[in-house]
Amino acid sequence: MRKNIVAGNWKMNLDLTEAQQLMTQLLSYSNNNKSNCEIYIAPPSIYTMMAKDLLDGSSIGVFSQDVSEFESGAYTGEISGKMLQSISANGSLVAHSERRQYHGETDSHANRKVKMLLDLGLTPIYCNGETLEQRKAGQHFEVVKNQTEVALFTLSAEEIKKVVIAYEPVWAIGTGETASPEQAQEIHAHIRSLIAAKYGQDVADEISILYGGSVKPDNAKEIFSKPDIDGGLIGGAALKIGDFSKIIEGF
Ligand code: G3P
Repeated sequence: MRKNIVAGNWKMNLDLTEAQQLMTQLLSYSNNNKSNCEIYIAPPSIYTMMAKDLLDGSSIGVFSQDVSEFESGAYTGEISGKMLQSISANGSLVAHSERRQYHGETDSHANRKVKMLLDLGLTPIYCNGETLEQRKAGQHFEVVKNQTEVALFTLSAEEIKKVVIAYEPVWAIGTGETASPEQAQEIHAHIRSLIAAKYGQDVADEISILYGGSVKPDNAKEIFSKPDIDGGLIGGAALKIGDFSKIIEGF
């Protein structure tokens, strides 16, 4: 079901004390949250259980930053969807550009992970986006089309409605080079039109599509005002409650 979402991807940041402090600040903020958006965090997996405990009873969703495509077994360093389900996590990011860049994740992997999460009743936040070279070459529409089709188009209409999509142009991640609201909107509309062509407009209109890539307090409101942008996946700015809360108030 389409909703406004601001999700914080903490990546590999914060020690235990810092993580506890930020979660406590988030809890306090969420108790007075007047915005009309849902708040999610994706802390480092070592803190996921603590996040569930500290945020228990709050409206803040707790996600993993990645998940294994496998159910269980000899996969050192990985965590499974069943483990996330067993601690009542809400879901997981899938195919974040840093997993693609450093760990060779592909949209075929993403397809298996998304299906596995949905089968467990968990929410996938599926990430895609073009590189700077692809954008400079004018390939961004084709790249995002292919990513979306490979990762999502084996799903049923009922399944894809449960997927959150995050468009994150690689050239905007961590660079301060935010996509303009118009640049983001045109790709979001493109993604939604692809889904509409395959599943129908009603299904496409049910899906939350987030923008990620240098979202900051001073640009969030304009980005979120665009018709096909349903919120943001936030990196650096999610690590400070002041910045993160101002972004949330961008709705
Ligand atoms: O997943 C969100 C992240 O990739 C965006 O990072 O630091 O550009 O907001 P940042």
